[in-house]
Amino acid sequence: PTGLLSDQLARPLHDLRISVTDRCNFRCVYCMPKAVFDNDYQYLPHTSLLSFEEITRLARNFIAHGVEKIRLTGGEPLLRKNIEKLVGMLAELKTVSGKPLDLTLTTNASLLARKAQSLKDAGLQRVTVSLDAIDNTIFQRMNDVDFAVEDVLNGIAVANQVGLGPIKINMVVKGGMNDQQILPMARHFKGTPYILRFIEYMDVGASNGWKMDEVVPSAEVVRRIHQEMPLEAIGANYTGETAARWRYVDGGGEIGVISSVTQAFCSDCSRARLSTEGKLYTCLFASSGHDLRALLREGRSDQEISTVLAHLWRARGDRYSELRTSNTDGLQRRANKVEMSYIGG
Ligand code: GTP
Ligand code: 5AD
Ligand code: SF4
Ligand code: SF4
Repeated sequence: PTGLLSDQLARPLHDLRISVTDRCNFRCVYCMPKAVFDNDYQYLPHTSLLSFEEITRLARNFIAHGVEKIRLTGGEPLLRKNIEKLVGMLAELKTVSGKPLDLTLTTNASLLARKAQSLKDAGLQRVTVSLDAIDNTIFQRMNDVDFAVEDVLNGIAVANQVGLGPIKINMVVKGGMNDQQILPMARHFKGTPYILRFIEYMDVGASNGWKMDEVVPSAEVVRRIHQEMPLEAIGANYTGETAARWRYVDGGGEIGVISSVTQAFCSDCSRARLSTEGKLYTCLFASSGHDLRALLREGRSDQEISTVLAHLWRARGDRYSELRTSNTDGLQRRANKVEMSYIGG
């Protein structure tokens, strides 16, 4: 059975985010804090990872059910060996509607300058780069491995040159850590081809010790920027877009704010997530996923896999962020949530 799907809240399946490794060479304080992700941390063994053939086979099944966009994430996806090869395999897939697949990747840019050309040649369309500060000291405090801003900026420039744009830059704002960088980041990227997006710090996973008072609401981000560089709201590019878009009144380009804490966007959420070891998660905040790798390795047919996918999506009722909003005290927050590095940002 192929065909378009709709879940319990009438949301289509449109996006697939695939985590290709649970490892990262950064230790961002909000994602893989050193205290948890230390030398003793048990990453997945190689045999647990989906192979490129397995990923591609699952992707083909998802596409048959309406997926038009695939994002490779991690961990740091460029750490996965021969990632260009996977990009090449996915780039050959065609969507049901005949549109080309929107194939993109989220990276910390540490290996981007080196890999941009081969990723482009393999068929990657664009990249999104994480960068949490333009001040080197603050950025190094965020990534916690002394990685320099200059090297990220170089990666972005090379990716742009080889045609991996328009490039989006993601900044997670953590109050008291990098919120003083909101304006410097906005100034830096204004008037460039890059679209800067501010992300509210989320209570994803179970390691980052999230507290509501460290969230800087997007409304505050917009207010601070607007005071110095006037902004006006613009409409979404597509239904279910995570970012609300704003443009500089003087023509200096656009920014986005991703407000999953103060303005949850579950009602349009069309995203499925495939973990590094092949579990399907229907929400970023899930505590368990469905083991698709087992189906592959038991030798099930595409038909059987497709039936399982359809069943899982039709049963989906997740809307964690909306429920969190109605519990702003942080009451009833779910335990055992999976880590973002495992499920994919
Ligand atoms: P574009 O197509 O480039 O707009 O990509 P996108 O909107 O999917 O954005 P991206 O993949 O860059 O995601 C940016 C950030 O938004 C992620 O790193 C998360 O922090 C957050 N985010 C993305 N999807 C979800 C989601 O389904 N739920 C929640 N709560 N946050 C999300
Ligand atoms: N809150 C918000 N975004 C997060 N990311 C990781 N952890 C968090 C968190 N706690 C996202 C960021 C980063 C990407 C790799 O994952 O967007 O750019
Ligand atoms: Fe690595 Fe990205 Fe997580 Fe930072 S946010 S630790 S770069 S996966
Ligand atoms: Fe989608 Fe879950 Fe995020 Fe809501 S909290 S937008 S349902 S992934």
